[in-house]
Amino acid sequence: MTDQKIERAAVVAAAANGAIGKDGWMPWELPEDLKRFKALTLGKPMIMGRVTFEAIGRPLPKRTTIVVTRDTDWSFDHENVRVCHTIEEAVEVADEIAVRDGVNEVVIAGGAQIYHLALPFTTRYELTEVHAEIDGDTFLDPLPADQWHETARQKIDNPEGPDYSFVTLNRIAS
Ligand SMILES: NC(=O)c1ccc[n+]([C@@H]2O[C@H](COP(=O)([O-])OP(=O)(O)OC[C@H]3O[C@@H](n4cnc5c(N)ncnc54)[C@H](OP(=O)(O)O)[C@@H]3O)[C@@H](O)[C@H]2O)c1
Repeated sequence: MTDQKIERAAVVAAAANGAIGKDGWMPWELPEDLKRFKALTLGKPMIMGRVTFEAIGRPLPKRTTIVVTRDTDWSFDHENVRVCHTIEEAVEVADEIAVRDGVNEVVIAGGAQIYHLALPFTTRYELTEVHAEIDGDTFLDPLPADQWHETARQKIDNPEGPDYSFVTLNRIAS
């Protein structure tokens, strides 16, 4: 661990019923959300589950991806990909990379299993609330209002599909 204070921001889009994925992908197309994801993650280490990493199929540029898997044989040969076998190890490696790269934030990039495992380490959510009930097979844990304080909200009107809002939630100190 390092002495520097590192924020750990989960970046996630979730429907009103908590759905975040279906059939291995996201059940919507939200162009502004993709732009926001890029803006929030560029230059930062990202912790990602093996399933989500393989769905994307390649490391996203200008970011180090720390892939979490139980499979000790799993590997991906790329200078910007690291493999970890526990969330604790992934957080430690991501923190070290953040310090190395001169940023003060690590991104928790999903999917559902990784958001869940990383919850104790997560200090902030950059949540895209999709204003619809969506048929999904993968769900985000509920974020209890007494544990998360909303500090920003921006509504996006979407003529092509459900409206959505960009919401920042900070962990309430216990
Ligand atoms: N809406 C959004 O913002 C968003 C963002 C990201 C992803 N998604 C969606 O989420 C879905 C994928 O999520 P998911 O929950 O199925 O998969 P995931 O979280 O991406 O990855 C799950 C994998 O993580 C590894 N893992 C889980 N627990 C572990 C542990 N305790 N120790 C070590 N490794 C562990 C396992 O890999 P191994 O099986 O290799 O052991 C497991 O299969 C997709 O539909 C994707 O599109 C949505």
